[in-house]
Amino acid sequence: MKLRVIGLLLLLFPLLAWATPLKPGHDAVASAQPFATQVGMQVMAEGGNAFDAAVAVSAALSVVEPYSSGIGGGGFWLLHDAATGKGIVVDGREYAPAAATATMYQDKNGNVIPDGSLNGPLSAAIPGEVAALVYINQHYGKLSLAQDLAPAIKLARDGFPLDRRFHEMLASRADKLKQWPAAWKVFYPNGQVPPEGYLLKQPDLANTLELIARHGAAAFYTGALAKQMVDAVRAAGGIWSLDDLHDYQIKLRTPLTGDYRGMKIITVPPPSSGGIVMLEALNILSGYDLAQDSELMQKHLVIEAMRFAFRDRAEYLGDPDFVRMPLQRLLSPYYAAGLRASILPDKATPSNELAPVTPEAPESQHTTSIAVMDGSGNLVGGTFTVNFRFGSGFMPPGTGVILNDEMDDFVSKPGVPNGFGLVGNSANEIAPHKRPLSSMMPTFLYTRRGLAILGTPGGSRIISMVLLGTLNYFNGGDAQSIVSLPRYHMQYLPDVVFYEPGAFTADEITGLGKMGYTLKEIHPYGNMQSITWDYRSGKVSAAADPRDIGTAEVK
Ligand code: DON
Repeated sequence: MKLRVIGLLLLLFPLLAWATPLKPGHDAVASAQPFATQVGMQVMAEGGNAFDAAVAVSAALSVVEPYSSGIGGGGFWLLHDAATGKGIVVDGREYAPAAATATMYQDKNGNVIPDGSLNGPLSAAIPGEVAALVYINQHYGKLSLAQDLAPAIKLARDGFPLDRRFHEMLASRADKLKQWPAAWKVFYPNGQVPPEGYLLKQPDLANTLELIARHGAAAFYTGALAKQMVDAVRAAGGIWSLDDLHDYQIKLRTPLTGDYRGMKIITVPPPSSGGIVMLEALNILSGYDLAQDSELMQKHLVIEAMRFAFRDRAEYLGDPDFVRMPLQRLLSPYYAAGLRASILPDKATPSNELAPVTPEAPESQHTTSIAVMDGSGNLVGGTFTVNFRFGSGFMPPGTGVILNDEMDDFVSKPGVPNGFGLVGNSANEIAPHKRPLSSMMPTFLYTRRGLAILGTPGGSRIISMVLLGTLNYFNGGDAQSIVSLPRYHMQYLPDVVFYEPGAFTADEITGLGKMGYTLKEIHPYGNMQSITWDYRSGKVSAAADPRDIGTAEVK
């Protein structure tokens, strides 16, 4: 009898092995800061999975890259659980305090107050990162929260040598941070920008992280720490309440899925605009066989697709819990076909025939993205932020936590551009406990060849960067080419195509000029992280954007 069972099992074995989904067999991390990448690899070497690593890397980034993201900010974590084959978006986006109003950044004449939504505690929304990380640890991790947070606590307590990027960020933000004494004291010892290599210790942040490690999210959203933050915010002119913190919850969102000529795309739905805008652009583009077109024609079509999709962003998108959005229509192939039909093969469509022109988006360098994969095939893409460099600049004394300035992602006044030059209307106006519209969009791509994780900071340019990376992967690219690729961007308004040196050849610049485009070369931008896995060769590649100091490791 026993023998028969064994025989049956032996017979079934090849079948079972075949049915088991492929596993990459390698751990990989790409992040914007070398210490954070190391932390991720270390946590997986110690028995953690990709979810533990993502929590550990995110927490470490709040210590080693606080100008980009941190526990005073929020973001989106896109997860793929290999065991169940299921994907989920953990929406840890900040929400507006209950006392926020649609016109809170306007003066009594209805003019937008410069800097109102960008500087100081009034610009800070209620942070979501702590709730998101604790949720991921509890529901997906193998290690305890304390284990996942331990490396970040160590980096904060023992310090780490300041890198070139951090030094530059401190030099560029000294004027802003000088206004906020607690942040000034932590980041400018002796009132000076510390030199590269300086051992930066953040004992208050270490204590805050330790409290969270010990007591979970409640330690941040309730109790003494919450009171400390609320008191400090209010004393400095902000409007947070204890209830705002207490009531904050992450939202679990079903990932947005799309298809581009057989490639499956899994990405972030509203309250990020990223997924919708990219899928709309890809729907427009899927009607062309781009590979058959000249490089010039391809770029023309991609730019036009960006223009139309960004126009709909401004018109329709906001927090899905507050506004009704015609998402089905925006993502319908028929709608895309209509837009495609309006694109002339030899002419740019002037945006200013559709709405008033707005000033250009300023350069930006903050927010962070991570890509993590473990040997079992669990995947995490995360993009999270405090918004502009060092967020609001405000640090509640004694907490070590830099608060975000995410309120600027709302529309302060319809038609008036925000810090990224983005316009919008009532769909994205401020309301109590509403989430500001984001562009952040960690994304997974699946083809017959393999899969890719990609994501980047860059405000509104996130969407065009991920779009170009997606097309690159479709055309046979890998992690390295996805992050290296020269970039260009169009966001409907302003009616300008921004491009990095090398994105267009001299002939393409002439050709696009003849079609009526206004082109503007700008400094290299973005900080993309990517991992790709080629099914056939089994090769796992990880790459950090060569424009910045991030690193990627595969083991
Ligand atoms: O959520 C958003 O879209 C923005 N707060 C992201 C900010 C950003 O990427 C800044 N990066 N350079």
